Parts: sequence; C-alpha cells; structure tokens
Amino acid sequence: MSEPFLIGEAMVGGYGAANILNGCTIAVEKGEIAVIVGPNGAGKSTAMKAVFGMLRLRGGHVRLDGQDISALSPQDRVARGMAFVPQTHNIFASMSVEENLEMGAFLRRDDIRPTLEMVYHLFPILRDKRHQPAGELSGGQRQQVAVGRALMTQPKVLMLDEPTAGVSPIVMDELFDRIIEIARTGISILMVEQNARQALMIADRGYVLVQGANRFTGTGAELMADPDVRRTFLGG
Ligand SMILES: Nc1ncnc2c1ncn2[C@@H]1O[C@H](COP(=O)(O)OP(=O)(O)OP(=O)(O)O)[C@@H](O)[C@H]1O
Ligand SMILES: [Mg+2]
Repeated sequence: MSEPFLIGEAMVGGYGAANILNGCTIAVEKGEIAVIVGPNGAGKSTAMKAVFGMLRLRGGHVRLDGQDISALSPQDRVARGMAFVPQTHNIFASMSVEENLEMGAFLRRDDIRPTLEMVYHLFPILRDKRHQPAGELSGGQRQQVAVGRALMTQPKVLMLDEPTAGVSPIVMDELFDRIIEIARTGISILMVEQNARQALMIADRGYVLVQGANRFTGTGAELMADPDVRRTFLGG
C-alpha cells in the first residue's frame, strides 16, 4: 500500500507535562477530504496544530509526500504546500477583505492576481465586499475570508479547524459545497468538524478522536453506518 499524501502518525504530545495526543494517526490522500470529529477537548485542534508544526511532538512524526517534515516550522510547511485555518482568530478583523487575501500570499513572489480571481470566483460575495473591513462581515463570510486567505498560498493541503462553527445550516451546506469544489482541483482537505453527520457525508475518510487517540476510522460512509459511532457521536 502506498503512503498517504499527508500523515501525522502515532502522534504524542501536549502543552504541559500531560499528553493530549496519545498516539493518534491522521492522514489524507491527494484531492480527498478527511474529517476529524470527536467530543470537545478530545484533542482535535491539538492534532491539527501538531500536523502543522505548531506543537512539538514527543512521539510519532508527520510526513508530506513521503518526506518527514516533523522538524519543520509552520512557515517551512507553508512553503512545502500546507495551509492552515485555525479554529479562532483566523482573519485580521481591521484589515479589508482584499488585504486579508493579499496577506495570505505574503510568501509568494509571483503574480497573485490569478489566485485572487480564483478565490473571488469561489466566493463571489468577497469580491463585492473586498474593500470592507473583514471584521464587519457575517460569520460565514469571515470563514470564507479565512479559507480564501489560506488558498492564496496555492496549497496542496488545506487544513480547516471547524470552518462552519457558528454559521447557519444553509451557510454550512454552501461552505461544504465549496470545500468539495476545492478538493476536486486536487487539493487535499483535512478538517475538523463539529457538524459530524454533515461533514462525514462529504468525507472520503473519517476519524473519531477520543482522548487523543483514534476511536473509529473509516470512510465517511462506514462511520455513518457504524452503530457505535451513530449512538455515541451522531446522536443515534
Ligand atoms: N494552549 C493550550 N494550553 C494548555 N492546554 C490546552 C491548550 N489548548 C488546548 N488545551 C487543552 O488540551 C485539551 C484538548 O484541546 P483541543 O483544543 O485540542 O480539543 P478539541 O478537540 O479541539 O476541542 P473543541 O471541540 O472544544 O474544539 C483540552 O483539555 C484543552 O483544555
Ligand atoms: Mg478544537
């Protein structure tokens, strides 16, 4: 079996003496959508930080396209094609929408206009509001800015921590449609979601994380069909 495009394998780590990640493994293939679900405090965000290099691992490693990147800084991972939209504080509220998007491209030296056009095509409302301070936008639109900003680096892997937090079901469905569209262009999506049912419906691969360890792993459809997963995490 060939190695996944991105894998955080047997990750162990935490913030103080205690470990939050207890050997969990998270992976995503090229152009696929992998979804992490699990209870509050399970370590989902911590696992994302570890994969992105914001948390030093005490065990395990992260590999991208066959290369061990465990020792790389987040900036170096961005240069390798990774982008991360954190759960909170993922936009610059006082800067305009367009300035936010331009900030996303700060590492690039080439022409960013085509990527900007691509983002505006994906999220047309952002073009209309491009001169407005991002902080004035609705919750769903701010998440579009955050995702758009991440896309400005032209990533191979897009990591999203609860992109639909606090948005209405309609806005959530719309954002999921855009995420599917992004994946179809060949970008891998690794995302954490609290809307477990809806997220697993679009997932090629799903992970149920509990206390920093893999409780259930499978295709989205397998997890949706698993009676234990349904009873424990999907409300029956
Ligand atoms: N910066 C930090 N310093 C110390 N402890 C932290 C820090 N961030 C998170 N924790 C703790 O680590 C554990 C896992 O937190 P984490 O944010 O990874 O969970 P989560 O699964 O993302 O939860 P949620 O669903 O609420 O977003 C929790 O007990 C949390 O209190
Ligand atoms: Mg979290």
